[in-house]
Amino acid sequence: MKIVEVSVPTKVTLFGEHAVVYGKPAIAIAIPRRIVLRGSASTSPGLRIRLSNVRVEIRSVRIDGSTEVEVDVDELRRILSYVVKGFEIACRDEVKGLDLEIRSDLPIGVGLGTSAAVSVGMAALCLALRGYEGSELVEEAAHLGWRIEREVQGAASPMDTFTVAYGGVRFIEPWIPRAVALDHGDLPLIVGYTPKRFTTAQLVAEVRKLRESYPQILNPVIELVGLVVEEARKAIERNDLEKLGELMVLNHRLLHVLGVVSLETEKIVRTVLEMGALGAKMSGAGGGGAFVVLAKDRRDVDKLSNVVEALGGRIVATSIEESGLKVFSG
Ligand code: PMV
Repeated sequence: MKIVEVSVPTKVTLFGEHAVVYGKPAIAIAIPRRIVLRGSASTSPGLRIRLSNVRVEIRSVRIDGSTEVEVDVDELRRILSYVVKGFEIACRDEVKGLDLEIRSDLPIGVGLGTSAAVSVGMAALCLALRGYEGSELVEEAAHLGWRIEREVQGAASPMDTFTVAYGGVRFIEPWIPRAVALDHGDLPLIVGYTPKRFTTAQLVAEVRKLRESYPQILNPVIELVGLVVEEARKAIERNDLEKLGELMVLNHRLLHVLGVVSLETEKIVRTVLEMGALGAKMSGAGGGGAFVVLAKDRRDVDKLSNVVEALGGRIVATSIEESGLKVFSG
């Protein structure tokens, strides 16, 4: 029996979230927190899933003689919808039964590309079971993963799925669609998150509504984000960290106009900037969730990490994951 294991990194958006939905470029970075899917084809039809170590929010635990644990079912349902859609789209009629195990130690749905990692992972797993391999498998998994996200969420840019499929620092051109690898030096980043109250789909819908109500105001803002991203690409390629930090702050201010910056994230961004960070911004869809800080150097990463944690931020990565999707079959 063929067993396939797929490991997919997660990601953080450095520039261009939301505007990428309207065709502007974006820059995203893969981070070394991986989601692992392990599966084998089965003769009994259907999908059997074991989730190990997947972190979901437990809303309340009552221990009063009887023990009651209330799990955030919406969150669970959300992850499973990507898995089921992936099975449907990528395994198709060729793999009728699948026994699957998913391991993740990252919380789902905080803007770190977990849904993209699950979508690309499911696509890769099915493709490997169907006999695909090498770069053809990776390319196909990136595109199918994007389709899975679009079908589950209604709308999605290729940013997250392409970045987790290929790894490294990626310049996303959604109009092609393509994810170009950017040459980069050491980027002393801190990637973390605060609790997120809204889903990506809700936040994307809010921004769309605002843009429809005020196109003459919102369209120029989206254009400006696009210009910031182009400048940021040059700053990364020249390893100009000071400029990169300034551009992160500019991008963060433009996200304020879109109305997606939460109070908790704002507190972290302001404090680290006051304490000498070169740049800081919210990341991903917003409404809480992910943020990213650019420190002056590695020593400052340690200092600022303590500040971030003292403000309630959880840190998930301080380095870049250069490799993307990995597939092992045996
Ligand atoms: O927070 P996340 O990782 O779900 O990122 C969403 C990024 C958006 O640009 C808001 C949406 C998208 O599809 O690119």
